[in-house]
Amino acid sequence: MKLNEEEQAMLDGKYGKGTQLAMKIQVAVGEAFDAPYMVPVTRTHVALSNQEADLWFVEKLVAGGAVCKIPPTVNPSFNLEQFKCITNIEPEDEDIVKRTHEAYKKIGAILTYNCTPYLEKNVPRFGEITSFSESSATPFINSVYGARTNREAAQSALCAAVTGVTPYYGYLLDENRKGEVLVNVEADMKTDFDYQMLGYFTPQKTGFKIPVFNGLKNPSKEALMNLGAQLNTGGNVAIYHIVGFTPEAKTIEDAFHGETPKEIVTITNEDLAKMRADLTDPGGKIDFALFGCPHFTIDQIKTVADIVEGKKLAVPLFIMTSSLSRNLSMQMGFYEIIKAAGGEIVADTCMDQPCWKFLYGKKGVTDSPKCAYYTKRRDMQFVISELTQCVESALKGEI
Ligand code: F3S
Repeated sequence: MKLNEEEQAMLDGKYGKGTQLAMKIQVAVGEAFDAPYMVPVTRTHVALSNQEADLWFVEKLVAGGAVCKIPPTVNPSFNLEQFKCITNIEPEDEDIVKRTHEAYKKIGAILTYNCTPYLEKNVPRFGEITSFSESSATPFINSVYGARTNREAAQSALCAAVTGVTPYYGYLLDENRKGEVLVNVEADMKTDFDYQMLGYFTPQKTGFKIPVFNGLKNPSKEALMNLGAQLNTGGNVAIYHIVGFTPEAKTIEDAFHGETPKEIVTITNEDLAKMRADLTDPGGKIDFALFGCPHFTIDQIKTVADIVEGKKLAVPLFIMTSSLSRNLSMQMGFYEIIKAAGGEIVADTCMDQPCWKFLYGKKGVTDSPKCAYYTKRRDMQFVISELTQCVESALKGEI
C-alpha cells in the first residue's frame, strides 16, 4: 500500500507502540483487500463487547500509549448500577466490565454504550467516509444515509479511530455499492416487525448480495433499524437500497448503476409467515419479555407504556435503550408507567451480556430475531412476535 508521510511514521512507531499496532493491522487488512492507499475517516463506532478478546485488544493499545484521533461512540455494555438493583452480579463479571470501561475511557472513546448511534450522537451525512462496526449500524448508515463504511470488526474500527484513516476498499468505492439483486416485495409490510422478517428472510433467497427492495412504502426509522439488523445478522449484508426511498436508489436504474438486474426475486406474505414459523419457539407459558435489540427508540417505549398503563404485568418485562432515551422516558412519564406495571427500562445494556444470567434456562418473548439468535448459546428460548402481541402476552404470562 502507498502510505503518506504521517501514516508511514505511525507504522514506523514514531507515535508509540499502540498507534503502530493499529496501523500495522490496517495495512494488513488493506493489502488483503488490494486497497491502494488509506483515506481519512470523520466518524467511527466500535462494537465494544466486554468480552475477553475485546478487553485484551483495547488494553494492549492503551498500554502502547494509543489515543483516538477520531473518538468512537461505543456499543452497549451493562450498567452495573442499574443491574445491581435487578440481580446479583458475579465479581468476575463486574471486574471485566470495569476494566473495559476504564480502557475505553483511557483511549478516548465517547462512552455512549448504545447500539443505535446513527439515531443519536453519531449521525453521518451523505458520502461521509467512516469506520463503523455493529450489525444494525453499518447497513443503516450505508443505506439510509448514503454514508460509507465497510463491515468493520470492533477491532478494525478501533484501529481507524486511533489512526484517523481506513484502507480504501469495499463499500467505500462507488462500484461496490451497486445493487446485485432486485427484490420485489409483494408482502403487505404492515408493521415494523414485518421488516424483521424481511431482513432475516432476504439473504436466504438472495445469498450475501446487495439487495434492492422494490415496493416498500415509507418505512419508519424503527423498520429500517430492524431491516438492517436482521439482514446483517442473517446474511452479512452491510448495504441495501430501497427504490424511491434511499439516497442511492432514486430509481431501479440508479440502484443498479444503469445496468439491468441480472437476478430478480419476489417475497410474499407466505414467505414471511414461513420464516416466522421457522424462527420462533412454540407459544405457551412465558417467564419474561425482553426488548431493545437493537436499542429501543422513545417511540417504541411509548408503545409499551400505552399498552401497560394502569395494568400489572404477569411476568417481568425489560426494555434496553440508550441513556438518552431512558432519561426521555422519565421526563415524558413512560418510565413511571412501565415501572408501576412491573417493568424495567435499563440503559447502556446489551442482551448478549452476562447480566442476564438470571434468565438462562427460561422462556421469553421478544420482537427481535437477533435477540433470539444470540441468546440460544446462553440457553434462553424465545417466542418471536410483533411488539404489541409480545407486551399483551407479558400481561397474561403466556403467548
Ligand atoms: Fe444491540 Fe446487543 Fe442487540 S448490541 S443490537 S442489544 S446484540
